[in-house]
Amino acid sequence: MARPTEITIDLQALRHNLQRVRAYSPHSLVMAVVKANAYGHGLIQIASVLSASAADGLAVASVEEGVALREAGLQLPITVLSSIWERSDVEALLTWNLDPVLHNPQQLSLFAKCTNSRQLSPWLKIDTGMHRVGIAPDQIPSSIASLSVASWVKELRLMTHFACADDIDNRATTRQLGCFMQVTKNTKLVRSAANSAAVIAWPASHLEWVRPGIMLYGCSPMLEGDGRVLGLQPVMTLRSRLTAVFDHQQGESIGYGASWRCPQDTRIGLVPCGYADGYPRHAVSGTPVLVDGQRVGLAGRVSMDMLCVDLGSGSTARVGSEVVLWGTGLPVEEVAVASGTIGYELLCRLTHRPSRHYLHG
Ligand SMILES: Cc1ncc(COP(=O)(O)O)c(C=O)c1O
Repeated sequence: MARPTEITIDLQALRHNLQRVRAYSPHSLVMAVVKANAYGHGLIQIASVLSASAADGLAVASVEEGVALREAGLQLPITVLSSIWERSDVEALLTWNLDPVLHNPQQLSLFAKCTNSRQLSPWLKIDTGMHRVGIAPDQIPSSIASLSVASWVKELRLMTHFACADDIDNRATTRQLGCFMQVTKNTKLVRSAANSAAVIAWPASHLEWVRPGIMLYGCSPMLEGDGRVLGLQPVMTLRSRLTAVFDHQQGESIGYGASWRCPQDTRIGLVPCGYADGYPRHAVSGTPVLVDGQRVGLAGRVSMDMLCVDLGSGSTARVGSEVVLWGTGLPVEEVAVASGTIGYELLCRLTHRPSRHYLHG
């Protein structure tokens, strides 16, 4: 019998979420971020739907992801957000028409040495305060001057990235945006600053291009709440079925470490989904799980291949009952909070073991 743990990807929800991005930022072009295998949803499938739904561009993390999209026949503008280290990366970008984000002077010189006659439209990344990657504001005028006359540059564009846009009370975003506007104001170049949190909470940052990632997948980027309050729909649902149901008495322990004991006589359900599927081992007892649409709690430690849930003494759930670990009816954000992480990580780190099914393709 096939293992009943599966991932369903609802492509209609993806289209809906792209419309939500358009509603939040109606005057901006949309660069849909599909890095990390489209946040675990499947790079080619997700990019194809976004392309057919008129996204204006795509963003990936690596040259390899960009090449995979081109090999699959995608024609949209593709930006490579990072991972440009050596000459072969530059050659691949030029061959496959992938626009780089330039973070440092070494990358500028890599391109300067290139003899290829093709042109690209790079983004120059300005470090406005995140202090991770990017060129310092005082070096931007000279970088712009040299790129403006470089033979490989078709159109130069300017980008920054926010450190704290998910926190609406944090003034750092206002400071970063102020710096970006100041540095770019006399350039007349196209600009991009907004990730999902800024699309939702910082409209002044929308500018010519927005770069949403997580909200396309239906997950809230904000510190609190979940995608539902933002009108988003979960694209991924991780589901399984109960493969056993046992009655246990008050005080009996369940699972490794005997870390959880039945608070009363109760019924325990076994779910064939564990950390080898990508369910977080750090999820605490009580983490919500839906069984036949009813909320129950995780009981004891998550194992490699299975986990247990406390169904309650009067439960009518049986072998074969549907289990939702996250997705429709149970926001991944809730599971993330109970596991000490963020929805992004849970979506990205599912393994290849659960089967995948695409709906509404
Ligand atoms: C440069 C850049 N822009 C946009 C995004 C999309 O961010 P989010 O998924 O929070 O919308 C990312 C993701 O990390 C990024 O690195």
